[in-house]
Amino acid sequence: MTTEIEWWDYDDAAEMADAVAGDIGFIIESAIDARGAAVIALAGGKTPLPIYEKLARAKIDWKRVTIIPGDERIVPLGDALSNVTAIGKAFLPKGARVIPLVSATAPDYKAAGRAADALLQDLHWPLDLVLLGVGGDGHAASIFPGPDFDEALNGPKERRALGVMPDPLPPEAPVARVTLSKAALTSARAMMIAVTGDAKRAVIEEAVKAGQSSPYPIGRILADVELPVDIHWAP
Ligand code: 6PG
Repeated sequence: MTTEIEWWDYDDAAEMADAVAGDIGFIIESAIDARGAAVIALAGGKTPLPIYEKLARAKIDWKRVTIIPGDERIVPLGDALSNVTAIGKAFLPKGARVIPLVSATAPDYKAAGRAADALLQDLHWPLDLVLLGVGGDGHAASIFPGPDFDEALNGPKERRALGVMPDPLPPEAPVARVTLSKAALTSARAMMIAVTGDAKRAVIEEAVKAGQSSPYPIGRILADVELPVDIHWAP
């Protein structure tokens, strides 16, 4: 299955943030209209933070919105690397329900993944939206090469989250992770990607070309998505 991909290019990150925040707001409102609530997964990392700032200002009935990070670094809440902390900063003051994937008590990363998977059973699936970022190494969510790569890509469909030890560890956040599985990501009603820079664009283009046989996680994910995917890009 190869999905239809549309690139949206912007002059700068602020212009991209406006457009992507608008698109996400529309998806949230449509979900609330259709089902009375919206459940979305947002990307970690730094690129999407201006998007979240703008989105949080939208006039949305935030009480009806549940947000999870698409992946989490296994660090304490409040840590500079914590994805849910950054997401929560933007949306908790608006009244959204922001759910951490990682609790401080899991004894190891595998157990943290199992706990996240159990927690996610209580949400309404499929997700209304997955927003992904992409790393310079081609990872998305926290699907990385390493001992858990195959499980993240090809594990049982009903497993929504798992623990991951990237190998090599990414230098910008060299810690174990919990991630949504490819099955959970690709089951979403909508998927979009927001990235900046020529290097990431080149990685995504190469990954899409290689499809199922791509060494890049983002290529493996996109090869399995059935809906059209918008890729938003700014220099
Ligand atoms: C994570 C992310 C990850 C992120 C990329 C890009 O927690 O690592 O969710 O998939 O989107 O690493 O991160 P930047 O936007 O910071 O480059």
